[in-house]
Amino acid sequence: MTPRVVVDGDRLLWRLNELAQLTATPGRGVTREAWSREDVEARVRVAGWMRDAGLHPVVDAATNLIGRSPGTKGRWLASGSHLDTVVHGGPLDGAYGVIAALEVASALHDAGHTMDHGLLVAAFANEEGARGTAGMTGSYGCIGALDDTWLDEVDDDEVTVRDRLAGAGGDPEDLGSARWAFDEIDAFVELHIEQGPVLDSTGARIGVVSGITGRQALDLHIVGAANHAGTTPMHLRIDALAAAAEVVLAVEALPRDGGIRVATCGHVTAIPNVRNVVPGEALLGVEIRDQSSAALDAAIPEIEALLDAIEARRGVAIARTWGQRVPPQLAAPAIKASTARAADGRGLQHVELPSGAGHDAQVIAEAAPIGMIFVPSRVGVSHSPDEHTEPEDLVAGAQVLVDTLLDLDGAR
Ligand code: GLV
Ligand code: MN
Ligand code: MN
Repeated sequence: MTPRVVVDGDRLLWRLNELAQLTATPGRGVTREAWSREDVEARVRVAGWMRDAGLHPVVDAATNLIGRSPGTKGRWLASGSHLDTVVHGGPLDGAYGVIAALEVASALHDAGHTMDHGLLVAAFANEEGARGTAGMTGSYGCIGALDDTWLDEVDDDEVTVRDRLAGAGGDPEDLGSARWAFDEIDAFVELHIEQGPVLDSTGARIGVVSGITGRQALDLHIVGAANHAGTTPMHLRIDALAAAAEVVLAVEALPRDGGIRVATCGHVTAIPNVRNVVPGEALLGVEIRDQSSAALDAAIPEIEALLDAIEARRGVAIARTWGQRVPPQLAAPAIKASTARAADGRGLQHVELPSGAGHDAQVIAEAAPIGMIFVPSRVGVSHSPDEHTEPEDLVAGAQVLVDTLLDLDGAR
Protein backbone atom coordinates (compact mmCIF):
# COMPACT_ATOMS: atom_id res chain seq x y z
CA MET A 1 0.00 0.00 0.00
CA THR A 2 1.56 3.31 -1.10
CA PRO A 3 1.63 5.87 1.72
CA ARG A 4 -0.13 9.21 1.10
CA VAL A 5 2.53 11.89 0.90
CA VAL A 6 1.10 15.16 -0.38
CA VAL A 7 3.05 17.92 -2.11
CA ASP A 8 2.71 21.51 -0.90
CA GLY A 9 1.66 23.26 -4.11
CA ASP A 10 2.14 26.78 -2.74
CA ARG A 11 5.72 25.99 -1.73
CA LEU A 12 6.46 24.43 -5.12
CA LEU A 13 5.09 27.43 -7.04
CA TRP A 14 6.76 29.94 -4.71
CA ARG A 15 10.17 28.30 -5.15
CA LEU A 16 9.73 28.26 -8.94
CA ASN A 17 8.87 31.94 -8.88
CA GLU A 18 11.90 32.72 -6.70
CA LEU A 19 14.19 30.98 -9.20
CA ALA A 20 12.57 32.79 -12.13
CA GLN A 21 13.78 36.08 -10.60
CA LEU A 22 17.39 34.88 -10.99
CA THR A 23 17.82 35.97 -14.59
CA ALA A 24 20.38 38.02 -16.49
CA THR A 25 17.59 39.47 -18.69
CA PRO A 26 14.77 40.77 -16.47
CA GLY A 27 11.62 41.30 -18.54
CA ARG A 28 12.96 39.16 -21.42
CA GLY A 29 12.45 35.63 -20.18
CA VAL A 30 14.80 33.70 -17.93
CA THR A 31 18.47 33.75 -18.90
CA ARG A 32 20.50 31.67 -16.49
CA GLU A 33 23.35 30.24 -18.50
CA ALA A 34 25.41 27.52 -16.87
CA TRP A 35 28.09 28.74 -14.45
CA SER A 36 26.90 32.36 -14.68
CA ARG A 37 26.38 34.49 -11.56
CA GLU A 38 22.62 33.77 -11.72
CA ASP A 39 23.19 30.01 -12.10
CA VAL A 40 25.54 29.90 -9.10
CA GLU A 41 23.05 31.99 -7.10
CA ALA A 42 20.24 29.56 -8.03
CA ARG A 43 22.34 26.69 -6.71
CA VAL A 44 22.89 28.51 -3.41
CA ARG A 45 19.12 29.00 -3.06
CA VAL A 46 18.34 25.39 -3.94
CA ALA A 47 21.06 24.08 -1.60
CA GLY A 48 19.39 26.01 1.24
CA TRP A 49 15.98 24.50 0.40
CA MET A 50 17.62 21.07 0.23
CA ARG A 51 18.88 21.50 3.80
CA ASP A 52 15.37 22.56 4.91
CA ALA A 53 14.05 19.32 3.35
CA GLY A 54 16.53 17.14 5.24
CA LEU A 55 18.85 16.57 2.27
CA HIS A 56 22.62 16.93 2.50
CA PRO A 57 23.68 19.10 -0.48
CA VAL A 58 27.11 19.04 -2.10
CA VAL A 59 28.49 20.55 -5.28
CA ASP A 60 30.38 17.72 -6.99
CA ALA A 61 33.53 17.95 -9.12
CA ALA A 62 31.43 18.43 -12.28
CA THR A 63 29.48 21.28 -10.58
CA ASN A 64 26.30 19.30 -10.17
CA LEU A 65 24.37 20.18 -7.03
CA ILE A 66 23.42 16.88 -5.41
CA GLY A 67 21.31 16.45 -2.27
CA ARG A 68 20.96 13.07 -0.63
CA SER A 69 18.87 11.68 2.16
CA PRO A 70 19.69 8.05 3.00
CA GLY A 71 17.00 5.38 3.26
CA THR A 72 17.00 2.15 5.17
CA LYS A 73 18.35 -0.28 2.59
CA GLY A 74 21.44 1.20 0.98
CA ARG A 75 19.80 1.64 -2.42
CA TRP A 76 18.72 4.87 -4.11
CA LEU A 77 15.99 6.45 -6.18
CA ALA A 78 17.14 9.57 -8.00
CA SER A 79 15.29 12.52 -9.50
CA GLY A 80 16.14 15.97 -10.78
CA SER A 81 16.89 18.08 -13.84
CA HIS A 82 18.87 21.26 -14.53
CA LEU A 83 18.87 24.85 -13.27
CA ASP A 84 20.55 26.44 -16.29
CA THR A 85 18.48 27.88 -19.14
CA VAL A 86 18.94 28.95 -22.73
CA VAL A 87 19.23 32.69 -23.42
CA HIS A 88 15.72 34.22 -23.14
CA GLY A 89 14.25 30.90 -22.01
CA GLY A 90 11.32 30.25 -19.71
CA PRO A 91 10.95 29.68 -15.98
CA LEU A 92 10.19 25.94 -16.12
CA ASP A 93 12.53 24.08 -18.48
CA GLY A 94 14.79 22.28 -16.01
CA ALA A 95 13.96 24.29 -12.90
CA TYR A 96 10.61 22.52 -12.58
CA GLY A 97 12.24 19.07 -12.43
CA VAL A 98 14.71 20.21 -9.79
CA ILE A 99 12.14 21.98 -7.62
CA ALA A 100 9.70 19.06 -7.92
CA ALA A 101 12.40 16.54 -6.92
CA LEU A 102 13.18 18.79 -3.99
CA GLU A 103 9.45 18.88 -3.21
CA VAL A 104 9.52 15.08 -2.97
CA ALA A 105 12.07 15.44 -0.18
CA SER A 106 10.11 18.28 1.45
CA ALA A 107 6.81 16.37 1.31
CA LEU A 108 8.41 13.20 2.72
CA HIS A 109 9.97 15.33 5.45
CA ASP A 110 6.62 16.98 6.27
CA ALA A 111 4.86 13.62 6.33
CA GLY A 112 7.58 12.11 8.55
CA HIS A 113 7.90 9.28 6.03
CA THR A 114 11.27 7.66 5.29
CA MET A 115 11.50 5.56 2.13
CA ASP A 116 13.36 2.28 2.14
CA HIS A 117 15.44 3.76 -0.68
CA GLY A 118 17.55 6.82 -0.16
CA LEU A 119 16.49 9.85 -2.21
CA LEU A 120 19.02 11.58 -4.45
CA VAL A 121 18.00 14.99 -5.82
CA ALA A 122 20.14 16.31 -8.69
CA ALA A 123 20.51 19.75 -10.26
CA PHE A 124 22.74 18.89 -13.22
CA ALA A 125 25.25 21.38 -14.62
CA ASN A 126 25.06 22.87 -18.11
CA GLU A 127 22.29 20.78 -19.61
CA GLU A 128 21.64 23.40 -22.28
CA GLY A 129 25.15 23.88 -23.65
CA ALA A 130 25.98 27.43 -22.54
CA ARG A 131 27.88 29.75 -24.88
CA GLY A 132 28.14 27.16 -27.65
CA THR A 133 29.45 24.28 -25.51
CA ALA A 134 28.26 20.69 -25.79
CA GLY A 135 25.43 20.34 -23.26
CA MET A 136 24.74 17.78 -20.53
CA THR A 137 28.14 18.37 -18.91
CA GLY A 138 26.90 17.50 -15.43
CA SER A 139 25.04 14.33 -16.30
CA TYR A 140 28.00 13.10 -18.36
CA GLY A 141 30.09 13.73 -15.22
CA CYS A 142 27.70 11.52 -13.23
CA ILE A 143 28.23 8.59 -15.62
CA GLY A 144 32.01 9.15 -15.58
CA ALA A 145 32.26 10.24 -19.21
CA LEU A 146 33.91 13.67 -18.96
CA ASP A 147 37.42 13.59 -20.40
CA ASP A 148 39.98 16.09 -21.70
CA THR A 149 38.05 16.56 -24.96
CA TRP A 150 35.21 17.97 -22.92
CA LEU A 151 37.40 19.95 -20.56
CA ASP A 152 39.48 21.56 -23.31
CA GLU A 153 36.41 22.78 -25.22
CA VAL A 154 36.48 26.55 -25.57
CA ASP A 155 33.19 28.45 -25.36
CA ASP A 156 32.09 31.54 -27.28
CA ASP A 157 33.87 33.70 -24.66
CA GLU A 158 37.16 31.79 -25.22
CA VAL A 159 36.95 30.17 -21.78
CA THR A 160 37.54 26.41 -21.44
CA VAL A 161 34.98 24.16 -19.78
CA ARG A 162 37.83 23.22 -17.39
CA ASP A 163 38.06 26.84 -16.20
CA ARG A 164 34.27 27.17 -16.04
CA LEU A 165 34.08 24.14 -13.74
CA ALA A 166 36.92 25.37 -11.55
CA GLY A 167 35.31 28.82 -11.32
CA ALA A 168 31.93 27.47 -10.20
CA GLY A 169 32.96 25.22 -7.32
CA GLY A 170 33.90 22.11 -9.34
CA ASP A 171 37.19 20.24 -9.59
CA PRO A 172 38.21 19.31 -13.15
CA GLU A 173 41.15 17.30 -11.78
CA ASP A 174 38.92 15.01 -9.71
CA LEU A 175 36.00 14.24 -12.03
CA GLY A 176 36.04 10.56 -11.06
CA SER A 177 34.53 11.57 -7.73
CA ALA A 178 31.39 12.85 -9.52
CA ARG A 179 30.55 9.37 -10.85
CA TRP A 180 27.46 7.85 -9.25
CA ALA A 181 27.54 4.34 -7.75
CA PHE A 182 25.10 3.00 -10.33
CA ASP A 183 25.00 -0.49 -8.85
CA GLU A 184 23.09 1.11 -5.95
CA ILE A 185 20.64 3.16 -8.08
CA ASP A 186 17.33 1.51 -8.95
CA ALA A 187 15.79 4.35 -10.97
CA PHE A 188 16.23 7.92 -12.17
CA VAL A 189 12.94 9.75 -12.83
CA GLU A 190 12.93 13.23 -14.39
CA LEU A 191 9.83 15.41 -14.33
CA HIS A 192 9.74 18.05 -17.08
CA ILE A 193 7.38 20.26 -19.02
CA GLU A 194 6.59 18.64 -22.36
CA GLN A 195 7.94 21.57 -24.45
CA GLY A 196 5.69 20.36 -27.27
CA PRO A 197 1.97 20.50 -28.10
CA VAL A 198 0.77 16.91 -27.56
CA LEU A 199 -0.60 17.08 -24.02
CA ASP A 200 -2.06 20.55 -24.46
CA SER A 201 -3.90 19.48 -27.59
CA THR A 202 -5.17 16.13 -26.28
CA GLY A 203 -6.25 17.37 -22.86
CA ALA A 204 -4.22 14.69 -21.05
CA ARG A 205 -2.66 16.00 -17.86
CA ILE A 206 0.30 13.64 -17.60
CA GLY A 207 2.72 12.33 -20.21
CA VAL A 208 4.39 9.00 -19.63
CA VAL A 209 7.54 9.33 -21.73
CA SER A 210 8.29 6.33 -23.91
CA GLY A 211 11.77 7.44 -25.01
CA ILE A 212 14.00 10.43 -25.63
CA THR A 213 15.12 11.58 -29.05
CA GLY A 214 18.73 11.19 -30.19
CA ARG A 215 20.72 14.21 -31.37
CA GLN A 216 23.78 14.75 -33.52
CA ALA A 217 25.61 18.09 -33.64
CA LEU A 218 27.60 19.41 -36.60
CA ASP A 219 29.78 22.53 -36.78
CA LEU A 220 30.56 24.06 -40.15
CA HIS A 221 33.25 26.56 -41.05
CA ILE A 222 32.54 27.99 -44.48
CA VAL A 223 35.38 29.87 -46.14
CA GLY A 224 34.83 32.17 -49.11
CA ALA A 225 36.65 35.42 -49.88
CA ALA A 226 36.15 38.71 -48.01
CA ASN A 227 36.01 41.68 -50.33
CA HIS A 228 34.62 45.17 -50.84
CA ALA A 229 30.80 45.17 -50.94
CA GLY A 230 30.71 48.11 -53.35
CA THR A 231 33.38 47.23 -55.87
CA THR A 232 33.21 43.44 -56.15
CA PRO A 233 30.90 42.46 -59.04
CA MET A 234 28.31 39.85 -58.17
CA HIS A 235 29.80 37.20 -60.46
CA LEU A 236 33.25 37.52 -58.86
CA ARG A 237 32.18 37.04 -55.25
CA ILE A 238 32.69 34.02 -53.02
CA ASP A 239 30.22 34.96 -50.32
CA ALA A 240 30.49 32.61 -47.34
CA LEU A 241 27.25 33.82 -45.74
CA ALA A 242 25.25 33.35 -48.93
CA ALA A 243 26.62 29.78 -49.08
CA ALA A 244 25.62 29.36 -45.42
CA ALA A 245 22.10 30.48 -46.33
CA GLU A 246 21.93 27.69 -48.91
CA VAL A 247 23.08 25.22 -46.28
CA VAL A 248 20.38 26.43 -43.87
CA LEU A 249 17.66 25.88 -46.46
CA ALA A 250 19.02 22.51 -47.59
CA VAL A 251 19.21 21.28 -43.99
CA GLU A 252 15.68 22.54 -43.36
CA ALA A 253 14.46 20.50 -46.32
CA LEU A 254 15.94 17.20 -45.06
CA PRO A 255 12.96 16.20 -42.89
CA ARG A 256 10.52 17.20 -45.64
CA ASP A 257 12.35 14.87 -48.01
CA GLY A 258 11.99 11.99 -45.54
CA GLY A 259 14.56 10.38 -43.27
CA ILE A 260 15.39 12.54 -40.32
CA ARG A 261 12.67 13.81 -37.92
CA VAL A 262 13.93 17.39 -37.40
CA ALA A 263 16.96 19.35 -38.63
CA THR A 264 17.97 22.85 -37.53
CA CYS A 265 20.68 25.45 -38.09
CA GLY A 266 20.27 27.50 -34.91
CA HIS A 267 23.64 29.23 -34.72
CA VAL A 268 25.23 31.44 -37.35
CA THR A 269 28.17 33.82 -37.30
CA ALA A 270 29.28 35.91 -40.27
CA ILE A 271 32.90 37.03 -40.37
CA PRO A 272 33.73 39.90 -40.27
CA ASN A 273 30.00 40.66 -39.84
CA VAL A 274 30.24 44.14 -41.29
CA ARG A 275 27.66 45.67 -43.64
CA ASN A 276 30.03 46.76 -46.38
CA VAL A 277 32.17 43.63 -46.56
CA VAL A 278 31.29 40.53 -48.59
CA PRO A 279 31.41 37.89 -45.80
CA GLY A 280 34.63 35.92 -46.09
CA GLU A 281 33.74 33.27 -43.54
CA ALA A 282 30.66 31.90 -41.84
CA LEU A 283 30.20 29.53 -38.92
CA LEU A 284 27.07 27.40 -38.67
CA GLY A 285 25.85 25.26 -35.77
CA VAL A 286 23.63 22.45 -37.08
CA GLU A 287 21.75 19.69 -35.27
CA ILE A 288 19.60 16.77 -36.35
CA ARG A 289 17.33 14.72 -34.08
CA ASP A 290 15.57 11.39 -34.39
CA GLN A 291 14.33 8.60 -32.15
CA SER A 292 16.41 6.14 -34.18
CA SER A 293 20.21 5.98 -34.27
CA ALA A 294 20.00 4.45 -37.74
CA ALA A 295 18.16 7.54 -39.02
CA LEU A 296 20.86 9.79 -37.53
CA ASP A 297 23.55 7.63 -39.18
CA ALA A 298 21.77 7.73 -42.53
CA ALA A 299 21.47 11.54 -42.46
CA ILE A 300 25.25 12.02 -42.19
CA PRO A 301 26.20 11.06 -45.78
CA GLU A 302 23.13 12.94 -47.01
CA ILE A 303 24.33 16.14 -45.34
CA GLU A 304 27.90 15.56 -46.54
CA ALA A 305 26.57 15.28 -50.11
CA LEU A 306 24.57 18.49 -49.92
CA LEU A 307 27.61 20.32 -48.52
CA ASP A 308 29.78 18.92 -51.34
CA ALA A 309 27.26 20.23 -53.86
CA ILE A 310 27.19 23.72 -52.33
CA GLU A 311 31.00 23.80 -52.20
CA ALA A 312 31.21 22.91 -55.89
CA ARG A 313 28.51 25.37 -56.98
CA ARG A 314 29.73 28.37 -54.97
CA GLY A 315 33.48 27.86 -54.78
CA VAL A 316 33.58 27.93 -50.99
CA ALA A 317 35.35 25.41 -48.73
CA ILE A 318 33.24 23.88 -46.00
CA ALA A 319 35.11 22.31 -43.07
CA ARG A 320 32.86 19.89 -41.14
CA THR A 321 33.18 18.82 -37.53
CA TRP A 322 30.70 16.13 -36.52
CA GLY A 323 30.26 16.84 -32.82
CA GLN A 324 28.32 15.51 -29.88
CA ARG A 325 26.04 12.49 -30.44
CA VAL A 326 23.57 11.93 -27.64
CA PRO A 327 21.97 8.58 -28.49
CA PRO A 328 18.21 8.01 -28.28
CA GLN A 329 17.04 6.15 -25.20
CA LEU A 330 13.95 4.25 -24.10
CA ALA A 331 12.29 4.58 -20.70
CA ALA A 332 12.23 1.49 -18.47
CA PRO A 333 8.84 -0.31 -18.68
CA ALA A 334 8.63 -0.71 -14.88
CA ILE A 335 9.05 3.04 -14.34
CA LYS A 336 6.47 3.87 -17.03
CA ALA A 337 4.07 1.48 -15.28
CA SER A 338 4.69 3.17 -11.90
CA THR A 339 3.93 6.58 -13.41
CA ALA A 340 0.77 5.33 -15.11
CA ARG A 341 -0.39 3.86 -11.78
CA ALA A 342 0.48 7.10 -10.00
CA ALA A 343 -1.55 9.16 -12.49
CA ASP A 344 -4.48 6.74 -12.26
CA GLY A 345 -4.30 6.95 -8.48
CA ARG A 346 -4.82 10.71 -8.68
CA GLY A 347 -7.49 10.50 -11.38
CA LEU A 348 -5.26 12.20 -13.96
CA GLN A 349 -5.62 11.30 -17.62
CA HIS A 350 -2.28 10.19 -19.08
CA VAL A 351 -0.86 9.32 -22.48
CA GLU A 352 2.41 7.77 -23.56
CA LEU A 353 4.55 9.94 -25.83
CA PRO A 354 8.18 10.35 -26.93
CA SER A 355 10.33 13.34 -25.97
CA GLY A 356 11.53 15.49 -28.85
CA ALA A 357 13.79 17.47 -26.52
CA GLY A 358 17.00 16.19 -24.98
CA HIS A 359 17.22 15.63 -21.24
CA ASP A 360 19.71 14.65 -18.56
CA ALA A 361 17.71 11.43 -18.11
CA GLN A 362 18.94 10.43 -21.56
CA VAL A 363 22.54 10.49 -20.36
CA ILE A 364 21.78 8.78 -17.05
CA ALA A 365 20.00 6.09 -19.13
CA GLU A 366 23.43 4.88 -20.24
CA ALA A 367 23.96 3.59 -16.69
CA ALA A 368 20.58 3.21 -14.92
CA PRO A 369 16.89 2.58 -15.65
CA ILE A 370 15.18 5.90 -16.34
CA GLY A 371 11.70 7.30 -16.69
CA MET A 372 10.31 10.72 -17.48
CA ILE A 373 7.02 12.40 -16.63
CA PHE A 374 5.68 15.31 -18.68
CA VAL A 375 3.12 17.99 -17.88
CA PRO A 376 1.43 20.14 -20.56
CA SER A 377 3.16 23.16 -22.09
CA ARG A 378 0.74 25.89 -23.18
CA VAL A 379 0.54 25.65 -26.99
CA GLY A 380 3.74 23.63 -26.85
CA VAL A 381 6.03 26.65 -26.43
CA SER A 382 9.42 26.36 -24.70
CA HIS A 383 12.93 27.80 -24.99
CA SER A 384 10.99 31.06 -25.05
CA PRO A 385 9.84 33.67 -22.52
CA ASP A 386 6.27 32.55 -23.37
CA GLU A 387 6.81 29.09 -21.86
CA HIS A 388 3.92 28.39 -19.47
CA THR A 389 2.27 25.51 -17.66
CA GLU A 390 -0.88 25.97 -15.59
CA PRO A 391 -0.09 25.98 -11.84
CA GLU A 392 -2.46 23.08 -11.16
CA ASP A 393 -0.64 20.98 -13.76
CA LEU A 394 2.71 21.80 -12.14
CA VAL A 395 1.39 20.68 -8.77
CA ALA A 396 -0.25 17.56 -10.24
CA GLY A 397 3.01 16.59 -11.98
CA ALA A 398 4.97 16.92 -8.75
CA GLN A 399 2.40 14.75 -6.98
CA VAL A 400 2.72 12.11 -9.70
CA LEU A 401 6.50 12.24 -9.26
CA VAL A 402 6.12 11.65 -5.50
CA ASP A 403 3.69 8.79 -6.09
CA THR A 404 5.89 7.26 -8.80
CA LEU A 405 8.91 7.22 -6.47
CA LEU A 406 6.83 5.77 -3.61
CA ASP A 407 5.52 3.10 -5.96
CA LEU A 408 9.07 2.24 -7.04
CA ASP A 409 10.20 2.28 -3.41
CA GLY A 410 7.56 -0.32 -2.59
CA ALA A 411 8.27 -2.42 -5.67
CA ARG A 412 12.01 -3.07 -5.32
C1 GLV B 1 17.44 20.63 -24.49
O1 GLV B 1 17.02 21.63 -23.94
C2 GLV B 1 17.22 20.45 -25.88
O2 GLV B 1 17.70 21.29 -26.66
O3 GLV B 1 16.50 19.52 -26.25
MN1 MN C 1 16.01 23.22 -22.65
MN1 MN D 1 15.27 20.84 -19.97
